[in-house]
Amino acid sequence: MTVVKAENVVKDYSLNGIAVHALRGVSLNFEGGEFAAIAGPSGSGKSTFLHLAGCLDTITSGSISIGGSDTARLSKTDLALLRRNSIGFIFQAYNLIPVLSVMENISFPLTLLGVDKKEIRARTEAALLEVGLEGMENRRPKEMSGGQQQRVAIARALVKRPSLILADEPTANLDSKTGREILEIMLKLNQTEGTTFIFSTHDSMVMEFARRIVRIRDGMIESDEVKSA
Ligand SMILES: Nc1ncnc2c1ncn2[C@@H]1O[C@H](COP(=O)(O)OP(=O)(O)OP(=O)(O)O)[C@@H](O)[C@H]1O
Ligand SMILES: [Mg+2]
Repeated sequence: MTVVKAENVVKDYSLNGIAVHALRGVSLNFEGGEFAAIAGPSGSGKSTFLHLAGCLDTITSGSISIGGSDTARLSKTDLALLRRNSIGFIFQAYNLIPVLSVMENISFPLTLLGVDKKEIRARTEAALLEVGLEGMENRRPKEMSGGQQQRVAIARALVKRPSLILADEPTANLDSKTGREILEIMLKLNQTEGTTFIFSTHDSMVMEFARRIVRIRDGMIESDEVKSA
């Protein structure tokens, strides 16, 4: 099944009345179970694409469908539900809530979904184990290293068991050992649960792990390579 279908997507930002052309007609499909990286120089449009695929921002023209629904036809409420139910986000600044403990940060999406308390506890504990953070459940984000915070962000994305995880430079700011561990956690999830992953990255290690590399430059697709098994 096609999880993300982008057709001729254009995104302009307006900066002091001047248009910034971030994406200039991007057509890209991602099938269920892909483990794909979007690579390209700084400013090429990687984060913009992930924001649009995650329905966090609106496109200027073209179309994006998520799981077969054209996002332009969905109401704000439906878009919020789609994000909440089906998409996990692992974004650059981690977006952890500083006043909440690790446990509370991870379980937060489930609380929003109204999942019952016992189930929340079970899934949160499973996610903690998955990312190797057992014993740290009561810490606050600022009491942890960058790599540990990144793991909290992954655990928070995966407790929902989303079909799609969008990760904006998931290994940025991590040393290569921690980065590799994080990639291995994500690859395992991809292989066992069939979760679709789309990363943006500059990191050659992420590209090594990826099964497909889409290169983007100046808001346009430069190449799209699927690795042979
Ligand atoms: N909110 C915004 N307002 C105006 N321009 C923006 C905005 N966000 C991004 N841009 C511009 O859009 C272009 C694409 O930015 P984007 O963040 O998608 O790049 P990127 O490939 O993720 O870069 P990086 O590797 O540095 O994270 C850049 O020229 C950027 O300056
Ligand atoms: Mg970016």
